[in-house]
Amino acid sequence: MDTIQFDQQVAVSPGQPPRLTREELANLSDADLFRHVDAVTAWLAGTFIDTPATAAVQASMDMTVRYNSATLPGSKTILAVTGANGAGKSTACHQWSARFYRAQTADLPRAGRLPQWNPHEGVRADVAPVVWINLQANAKIAELDAQILQFLRVGVSGTIRDMTLRAVRAMARHRVKALLIDDVHLLNTRYRNGSDVLDHLKHLNTELGEIGGTLILVGANLEQTALPGDPQIATRLRLLRVQPQPVETAADRTAWAQTLTAVEQAIFPVLPAAVDGVLAEQHAGLLHELTGGYLGELVTLVKHAAIQATGTRVGTITEQILHECPRSVRAVSNLFTRETR
Ligand SMILES: Nc1ncnc2c1ncn2[C@@H]1O[C@H](COP(=O)(O)OP(=O)(O)O)[C@@H](O)[C@H]1O
Ligand SMILES: [Mg+2]
Repeated sequence: MDTIQFDQQVAVSPGQPPRLTREELANLSDADLFRHVDAVTAWLAGTFIDTPATAAVQASMDMTVRYNSATLPGSKTILAVTGANGAGKSTACHQWSARFYRAQTADLPRAGRLPQWNPHEGVRADVAPVVWINLQANAKIAELDAQILQFLRVGVSGTIRDMTLRAVRAMARHRVKALLIDDVHLLNTRYRNGSDVLDHLKHLNTELGEIGGTLILVGANLEQTALPGDPQIATRLRLLRVQPQPVETAADRTAWAQTLTAVEQAIFPVLPAAVDGVLAEQHAGLLHELTGGYLGELVTLVKHAAIQATGTRVGTITEQILHECPRSVRAVSNLFTRETR
């Protein structure tokens, strides 16, 4: 991914399919039903669902990025968004990035495809408030720098030291405010050169700090990686946990119902026969059993169920539909509690 692709990606919002009544859904011709299912599928697949948990993570990200951008130059708080696989970390961070990017670039002039600013009198440069990197497995310093340079569409060549310098300069020139590195658990910190990679992250954070930027690390179970073990990182690190939701206590169950309410409200437009509480009241227990409380599993299951409810003209989510929907291997094998990384 690079700045141009990112800019395009954050601009598209999926078109909502026509809102049908129960009767209209029941009476569609087969050909019209086919087209409707297609439109419903496209819309659901591209729709982010805000829940209390995603809102909390995004509010913390907003606050830290804002605070970091206003404090004195120097090393800033590093955010680490951590939690189990499939908890919804990447999706929540991606959504935050899209919103932040749009807010930061809304009033800027555009030349060609990208928003621009004047770093110096008479000089123009693209503005890239967010750099988003999906880390490659076992990435080392050079790969990390190369990915930053590629995202900012700057040539990749030269020695490691050269590349770092260019990555840092490019981030200043393109007014980067947030450097997000996803799948940080893939960083090669365990072998030889491992501590170099941690030192490099510290260096990037210090340099970003000079321009008011924030380093945001996203990854599975980061508490168990070398990150918090590094004293310099630990003092600056702020962990945001995105975890599966339990239903042990009454308070847990209330929170679970709030999540389900958020999900059902989001998909109501395509379920003409659904009533309030269809998920939060009718299927709360079953949905927890089927998804282990993982937001990613939940959203994916419910979206599939909504597509099924449309294709079968039922127009709401029933127990039978939930049982028939495809689920992840983890869900089917009930591996929820055994995951370590
Ligand atoms: N809030 C959400 N809205 C819509 N889809 C979501 C949401 N959270 C997770 N998902 C879906 O669940 C899947 C797993 O989520 P992901 O963010 O990749 O998990 P993680 O990064 O924690 O492993 C993704 O494919 C995504 O489409
Ligand atoms: Mg992820």
